[in-house]
Amino acid sequence: MAPTTSGPPRAYNDVLEAIGNTPLIRLNRLTEGLQKSSVWVKLERCNPGGSIKDRIGLQMVLDAEAKGLLKPGGVIVEATSGNTGIGLAIVAAQRGYRCIFTIPDKMSDEKITLLKAIGAEVHVCPTAVEKEDPRSYYEVAARLASEIPGAWYPDQYSHLANPLAHLLSTGPEIWQQTEGCLTHFVATMGTGGTITGTARALKELAEADGSEPPRIVGVDAVGSILKQWFEEGTMGEPHTYKVEGFGEDFIPPATDFSLIDEVHQVDDGTCFRWARALARREGMFCGGSCGGAVKVALDLAERADAAGEAAMIVVILPDAGNPYLSKFYNDEWLVENGWDPQDWE
Ligand SMILES: Cc1ncc(COP(=O)(O)O)c(C=O)c1O
Repeated sequence: MAPTTSGPPRAYNDVLEAIGNTPLIRLNRLTEGLQKSSVWVKLERCNPGGSIKDRIGLQMVLDAEAKGLLKPGGVIVEATSGNTGIGLAIVAAQRGYRCIFTIPDKMSDEKITLLKAIGAEVHVCPTAVEKEDPRSYYEVAARLASEIPGAWYPDQYSHLANPLAHLLSTGPEIWQQTEGCLTHFVATMGTGGTITGTARALKELAEADGSEPPRIVGVDAVGSILKQWFEEGTMGEPHTYKVEGFGEDFIPPATDFSLIDEVHQVDDGTCFRWARALARREGMFCGGSCGGAVKVALDLAERADAAGEAAMIVVILPDAGNPYLSKFYNDEWLVENGWDPQDWE
């Protein structure tokens, strides 16, 4: 596919206009040896807040304003693993709202410092408790939202504006950038908003075009219950894991599993190893969920190639590496947690 470099550079009236329209970039070094298939990554770290969640932060606020749920001077309260908070905080900064976020204690200090830097108040809650536990970050957010006058609790896990943001932006952008030629779409699953909205857009656009829709591939974390739910309709026993931003211990209402064709699980080590490989071999400094998604895409590409197929695989890379500098980008942290980075060289 010929890269598109045409079009004048744009100027924006405010930071919110700069959300979306992220680059789609072909992998070259990690895909050495592939004959026919290719892997392309959508670099969501290029959003102003540094992650894909800027898209849903904006969409959820627009929805709340339109419905009168968020009034001038109002307060946004949300349970977030960090990125959605940053997305909401940049919208709030621009529109004059106050933000209060609850965040699980496994999240990096950089994410918490960053949320505070954009003006948010942050409550750190224990990770290793049930969702229904009054100390969980979901329950603390719900309680704060009910106690604070004028508070609005978007709840990205069930808010329809979450998948809608991707139906309206991420999906159509990918269709345009690939000229409708992609064969697979790969995304990690947290709230499921990304995979649900993007898959729906891609399927609708393929249908309108009369072409075969791409295969929709979800990526789950080892320790999460989503893969088993997708395959067997039963709830497994969740356990904690270190990679941030995807996998869940409950079924998020924002996910439409009927749009997904297959789900793969990746463990912490795989995510960290391939995120580091993306940085060192492709020059893309991204988060752990990006590493897991890229590894699944590379395996798919190898299988397609071996079968003589020309797969064109598009992978979402949700965020940047900066928030993880003190974690898996730090060799000492890796060793303390049982990995030897030299094994990955
Ligand atoms: C780093 C990271 N990766 C992946 C995801 C999963 O995206 P979604 O919630 O749209 O399923 C998130 C969501 O918070 C995230 O922050």
